[in-house]
Amino acid sequence: ARRVLGRRNLVFVGLMGAGKSAIGRIVAQMLDIPFVDSDHEIERVSRMSIPELFEAYGEAEFRALEARVIKRLLRTGPRVLSTGGGAFMNDATRATVLASGLSVWLKADLEVLWTRVSKRDSRPLLKTANPKQTLASLLEQRYPVYAEADVTVQSRDDPKETIAAEAIAAIA
Ligand code: S3P
Repeated sequence: ARRVLGRRNLVFVGLMGAGKSAIGRIVAQMLDIPFVDSDHEIERVSRMSIPELFEAYGEAEFRALEARVIKRLLRTGPRVLSTGGGAFMNDATRATVLASGLSVWLKADLEVLWTRVSKRDSRPLLKTANPKQTLASLLEQRYPVYAEADVTVQSRDDPKETIAAEAIAAIA
């Protein structure tokens, strides 16, 4: 897989709670290439947390910053990049991702996602009266777009190493 990539990047997309950061980090270790996480990079350059950014500037500004950060992160490869769940929904970002290498949609069922995201209070988009319903509608809206990724890997409750190995097998 390392050789298949060459200088191209490997980009993980999918909903919140799919395991993009955890799986991406393991895949990067397995392939021995650098790992980057767009949410972390956004927090680093802005010196604010994601919820603070949403609160201070709103979602549109966040998306613009996210698009710039991802474009820069993908300029030099090979890298493994884990994106925030909304990044691939942005037309410009999706085009950048698709052109920069291989993309993997980490796909998970609503129950799996919900169990994971409900443990933390760090997702501004889920600060609604019925966050599980919000997650379900995001799933419905976004799945057709995530399906444009090069490969799809099912993210279950198996060990992360197993899912990471499946992702590598899917691109090799
Ligand atoms: C978002 C997902 C989050 C973060 C922001 C918006 C989304 O990233 O970028 O809260 O639109 O789905 P994770 O997918 O890493 O939770």
